[in-house]
Amino acid sequence: ALERTLSIIKPDAVAKNVVGEIYARFEKAGLKVVAAKMKHLSRKEAEGFYAVHSERPFFNALVEFMISGPVMIQALQGENAILKNRELMGATNPKDAAPGTIRADFADSIDANAVHGSDAAETAAVEIAYFFAATEVFPR
Ligand code: CMP
Repeated sequence: ALERTLSIIKPDAVAKNVVGEIYARFEKAGLKVVAAKMKHLSRKEAEGFYAVHSERPFFNALVEFMISGPVMIQALQGENAILKNRELMGATNPKDAAPGTIRADFADSIDANAVHGSDAAETAAVEIAYFFAATEVFPR
């Protein structure tokens, strides 16, 4: 099915100057950028985005990391975009990520793991709406 997914290039990957290399991977896989913005998240924005993890032991470290520098946020559209993006990203922990995936190539740790991607259709819709107004998404 034609889907959209929310992708975040995290502060570590923005700092490494690999935004373009990561965008190229999306495009080569047939995913189109249909919305994008760079943003330095406030603590409230990061806490709200990751609210489902608020009881997890890693929550505070995750929020601190996500507000440590600007992120690049995009909505991606394509056939099976959610799973396709997760395959491009690789496993959450870069130590477990398959060779050639974004996390294997650019991530340093489970916290500084280069990218976020929505895990299901329901969360994708919520996550896209969290950062983009309907008028900021350009289906094409
Ligand atoms: P992300 O896909 O952005 O979703 C939540 C983030 O929490 C995850 O990527 C990791 O960067 C971070 N995290 C830190 N520790 C863990 C953990 N033990 N399990 C899952 N996610 C973790």
